Amino acid sequence: MERKYYCNDFDYNEYKNEIESSGSIQRFIDNEIKVNKTESESSESENWNIFYQKHKTGKFYKSRNYILYEFDKYFQALTSSSETGSTFILECGAGHGTTIYSLIDKLSDKIIFYATDYSDDALKILTENSLFDSSRVKVSQWDIIKPISILLPCPPKLIICIFTLSAIHPDFHYNCFKNMADILESGSVICFRDYGQYDFTQFKQKSFISQNLYRRFDNTLSFYFTIEYLESIIEKLKDELEIIEISYCTILSKNRSTNVDMKRIYLHSVIKKK
Ligand SMILES: C[S@@+](CC[C@H](N)C(=O)[O-])C[C@H]1O[C@@H](n2cnc3c(N)ncnc32)[C@H](O)[C@@H]1O
Repeated sequence: MERKYYCNDFDYNEYKNEIESSGSIQRFIDNEIKVNKTESESSESENWNIFYQKHKTGKFYKSRNYILYEFDKYFQALTSSSETGSTFILECGAGHGTTIYSLIDKLSDKIIFYATDYSDDALKILTENSLFDSSRVKVSQWDIIKPISILLPCPPKLIICIFTLSAIHPDFHYNCFKNMADILESGSVICFRDYGQYDFTQFKQKSFISQNLYRRFDNTLSFYFTIEYLESIIEKLKDELEIIEISYCTILSKNRSTNVDMKRIYLHSVIKKK
């Protein structure tokens, strides 16, 4: 099925060539900051607790209505399933629930959401939302770098992984996909969306750590994905996972307050458990 939502405002490869031939990415690389392994192993995700302690209102991210369009056929397959009983969707790195609250009233009430995140503070904000319904949304802390420790009533039919892995050091991306693969049944999918290389925000980052990886002012990490990078991770898990959709989503938008044009780039992918 063709993707309906606008997602191809400019040609990614032309833009990439423009950026790489202009040398505008080089100055970020020149400012390289070394992060030692111990730090990346232990404390990176902890910065998200601090982030959510500072942003308690839960209004920090815009709603995600486009997710229904972008992953339409996978959500439809769940809704039209003839199975009786509940169907589970698990979100990893659910934050304070922007994605779940964009979907909950648009999908059948047979669908139960499992909201998981590293940050207890994020999950607390998620449960304080006026749309929170404990019969539809179950909440559990899960550091996706580690195998899941919560007991799921049954395997999720779909995992949502949106703007989560960009917050995790790339040393652990393989573990994250492995841990997701381990809780899925054959035929179930991971719906993935995250920042793509050369997204507008990449040029606003000040602290370069390594290729496509930056530290924001609030100490959280920000990684920018390429198709080749994601393919290389899934290749290592090829006995368990296969990519069935992968593309850059390119969007031209304007910052209304500054009037600045922004070229937004996201990596869209659907990964299936074999
Ligand atoms: C950029 S936010 C995105 C939140 C949400 N997915 C959204 O799109 O609104 C990144 C999220 O990843 C979570 N996170 C960071 N490290 C994690 C880890 N190791 N395991 C699970 N979640 C993690 C953070 O707490 C944060 O909620």
